[in-house]
Amino acid sequence: MPPVKNHAKTKQNMNSSIFRLLNEELYTKSSGFSAQKFKESPELFKIYHDGYKQQLDQWPIKPFDIASKFVQQFKNNEKIGDIGCGTAQLAQKFKQCNIESFDIGCTDDIKELVRIANMTNLPVADEYFDALVYSLSIMPTDQYKVLNEAHRILKMNGTMLIIEVISRVKNVDEFAKKVEKYGFKCTIKEENKFFFSCEFQKIEKGEGTGGLLDPCIYKRR
Ligand SMILES: C[S@@+](CC[C@H](N)C(=O)[O-])C[C@H]1O[C@@H](n2cnc3c(N)ncnc32)[C@H](O)[C@@H]1O
Repeated sequence: MPPVKNHAKTKQNMNSSIFRLLNEELYTKSSGFSAQKFKESPELFKIYHDGYKQQLDQWPIKPFDIASKFVQQFKNNEKIGDIGCGTAQLAQKFKQCNIESFDIGCTDDIKELVRIANMTNLPVADEYFDALVYSLSIMPTDQYKVLNEAHRILKMNGTMLIIEVISRVKNVDEFAKKVEKYGFKCTIKEENKFFFSCEFQKIEKGEGTGGLLDPCIYKRR
């Protein structure tokens, strides 16, 4: 094999390994740890999302389709927060919607669209959003902080969509009940072989403390 090809293959293998390690870290460390990691090494964000895209291509059902259906119901310029937006696919596709995207990293091509922020401490006022999307993004171990922050930034009666990998919960009903303790009511629950999605309405004051989701670790090669 010519050396150039070898080099490309080695780089690809290295990036796949970095993706797996990063993924494991994002799911097993606190939000502060991950935010600091992407701040110190911004190039990791692209490596992570290249690996994540490969993972995504293997799933016959796409979480993006669930999130797309959700955002399209908001036709009156309601403020929608895409929290842990990744490559900001929602804001890029639904330009007619009022979507604000947040993540702990981004690449140059989407920097106009993404605000760098930790989902446990978002730079917006209380009750700012009409709707929130968390698509496969509740990764850090301090999940209680993520949920309490979601409660703070969402308007009363506002809607929150959580989409997650089904293997992260033992039971979707149990998951929904845990989220309800944070001051929400589950209005829609759906699941398939790969993912589940729940819509919650903010209905009351509430401050939860417990964890919700197991880590999602992809197999090592
Ligand atoms: C698996 S990706 C999903 C991206 C996107 N929501 C999607 O559905 O394609 C999870 C994203 O959550 C982001 N993330 C993880 N921890 C975060 C935190 N503490 N605050 C903000 N974003 C975070 C990661 O950087 C990553 O872009």
